Amino acid sequence: MDFESGVWCTSLGHNNRHVNEAIIKQMNIISHAGYRYSNKIVDEAVEKVLNLFGYIDGKCVFLSSGSEAVEFAVQAVKKIMNKPYFLCLNGYFLSSYGLSAARNKEEWISLDLTDYKGDPSSFLKNIPFDKIGAFIFEPGNASGTVKLPPEDLVKMIEVKIRENNGFIVVDEVTTGVGRTGKSFGYEYYDISPDIVAFGKGIGNGYPVSVIALSKQVALLIEKSGLKYAQSHQNDPLGCAVVKEVISIIEHNNYIQRASEIGLVLEHELNLLLEKYKCIKEVRGRGLMFVIEFIQYNDFPLEKIHRDLFDAGFITGLSIPANLLRFYPPLTIEREQIKGLVNALSNILSKY
Ligand SMILES: Cc1ncc(COP(=O)(O)O)c(C=O)c1O
Repeated sequence: MDFESGVWCTSLGHNNRHVNEAIIKQMNIISHAGYRYSNKIVDEAVEKVLNLFGYIDGKCVFLSSGSEAVEFAVQAVKKIMNKPYFLCLNGYFLSSYGLSAARNKEEWISLDLTDYKGDPSSFLKNIPFDKIGAFIFEPGNASGTVKLPPEDLVKMIEVKIRENNGFIVVDEVTTGVGRTGKSFGYEYYDISPDIVAFGKGIGNGYPVSVIALSKQVALLIEKSGLKYAQSHQNDPLGCAVVKEVISIIEHNNYIQRASEIGLVLEHELNLLLEKYKCIKEVRGRGLMFVIEFIQYNDFPLEKIHRDLFDAGFITGLSIPANLLRFYPPLTIEREQIKGLVNALSNILSKY
C-alpha cells in the first residue's frame, strides 16, 4: 500500500486501468510529433487544462518533469518582467536545475518564514516590491516537510506584487491535482496566478508536466521572442495522459473525495498524536500530511519506517526533518488509512 504515491506522482493509484488504456490507445495513433506540430489530442488537453484555471484564450506548454515546468515558467517570466528580482520563500523546492534551483542571491529575494511573527506588514516592510518582477510561490509541500505558508502573508505579497505590476507564478508540481484537497494548493490563498506549473500527479506516474499561462502573459511571452525548445514538448502521448487524468478526476469527483478522506487521515493521525508522547506535531491538509517526531538522540525513526514497510505500507521518511510522510493517492480508502494507522500504532507502542 503506497502512501507516498511513488514520488508523489501516482495520484490515481498504481496501474490505473483507464490511464493505461489511454496510453496504449494514443501509442497506437502517435506518441511523438515534434514541437512545431500540433495535434487533436494536444488541443483537447489544452482545453481541459485551461478550463481548470478559467484562463480564457490562455496557452499551455507540455514538458516532461516538474523541474522543467517550473524552470520554463521562471525563464518565461524573466523574459517579460522589466525588474531585477524574483521573490520566493526560503527552503521551498522549485526545481532540480536552472535559475529556479540556483536562486542566485543577486536575482532572488528569499523570505525566511522562521522569522515570521504573524504580522505581514512588518515582515514585508523592507521588501523592495517596486523592483520585484514576479513572486514564485509554492503552496506548502516544502520539499516534503509540509510547511503551509500563512494565508495573510501570501495575500499581502500578491497585493504588493500587483500594485507594482509584477506577476504571480505558482509551482503546483506536488500540491496540484487534488493533493491538498482542492484542485490546486493556491486555492487556499485567494490569489490569482498568471502562470501555473504542475507535473507529478497529472501524469499518474507517466513523465508529463504542464505550464498554464493566462492570455495576458502568453501574449507577452510570445512577443518577447522567448526561445525554449525540447524534444518532448507537447508530445501527443503526454497530452493523452493529461486529458485522461483530468477526465477521471472530474468524472469521479476525486477532489471532493480527497478533501473528505483527508479529514479521516487527519483525524486518525491526530489520535496517534494524543496517544504517543514522541509525536511533536501532525500537519498538512487534504492528502498531504506529515508526523514530526520529538528529537530524541536514539529515536528509531528508520526502524519505524522499515517496520511499516515490512507491515505492507510505503510511507515517506525524512531523517533531517525527523518525520514520516503520508501522500496517498486520491483513490485511497478509509479502511486502508485505518490499516496504516493501526500498523503505525502497533510499531510505536513496541518502541
Ligand atoms: C514543489 C516542487 N516543485 C518542483 C519539483 C520538481 O519536480 P520533478 O521532480 O518532477 O522534476 C518538485 C519535486 O519534488 C516539487 O516538490
